[in-house]
Amino acid sequence: MSAVWFDVEYRDAQVQLRAFEPTPDEVRAVAVQLSSYYNDEHNRAMLTHEEDMSAEEVVEYYTESCERGDRLFLLEQDGVLVGDADFRHFDACSAEYAIMIGARNLQGRGLGRKFTTMLHAWAFRGLGLDRVYVTILPANRPSLRLFEQLGYGPDRSPRARSLIDEESDVTLSVQRSAFEKQHGAMMDGVRFAPRK
Ligand SMILES: CC(C)(COP(=O)(O)OP(=O)(O)OC[C@H]1O[C@@H](n2cnc3c(N)ncnc32)[C@H](O)[C@@H]1OP(=O)(O)O)[C@@H](O)C(=O)NCCC(=O)NCCS
Repeated sequence: MSAVWFDVEYRDAQVQLRAFEPTPDEVRAVAVQLSSYYNDEHNRAMLTHEEDMSAEEVVEYYTESCERGDRLFLLEQDGVLVGDADFRHFDACSAEYAIMIGARNLQGRGLGRKFTTMLHAWAFRGLGLDRVYVTILPANRPSLRLFEQLGYGPDRSPRARSLIDEESDVTLSVQRSAFEKQHGAMMDGVRFAPRK
């Protein structure tokens, strides 16, 4: 499990956003809400979860993922939980990323784009990654649009394809320099620091 947990924050005229690596108690406190997000019919299909997850299973999932070295974040808008995101399958200079904006009525309002930019600021500037990958179901138009709009491009390299669940999954990636070029201004407004 990571010894240092991070807080990543961004504020603009409309909204205050926080992504943070939760303690086990913090995961327990939101596990019922997270399980309802995961179990939403649309989210479940897009995330390829085959079965509903109980609150206890959410806690187990977080615990096991952290023990594997994944970096999981809870996402808050103005202090209210709106989803989660993570980096996983690390090698020396890259990782795979995934995100969920849990409430259906909050999807499509720019939160996925803002949280992803915040967390890429942390991954590129804080962790020093050079490339980030995503794997997406071809039917997941919002996700494809989100990552294309952020500057991700098709990647069929062995490393990208090693991350897929199904042969039909779309694999995209973005390099740090390209992301910096497109989003440097917003990244400069992102604050990240170890949690106290
Ligand atoms: C995919 C997801 C993270 C996107 O986050 P979001 O906050 O909904 O997306 P944003 O509002 O930031 O929009 C990003 C782009 O996607 C587009 N988009 C959003 N919802 C869309 C929809 N339902 N259909 C088509 N495009 C959509 C937006 O229009 C925007 O593109 P634009 O700037 O060119 O208009 C979110 O919808 C989600 O969590 N879905 C369920 C779980 C999931 O699919 N996770 C991704 C697994 S790879």
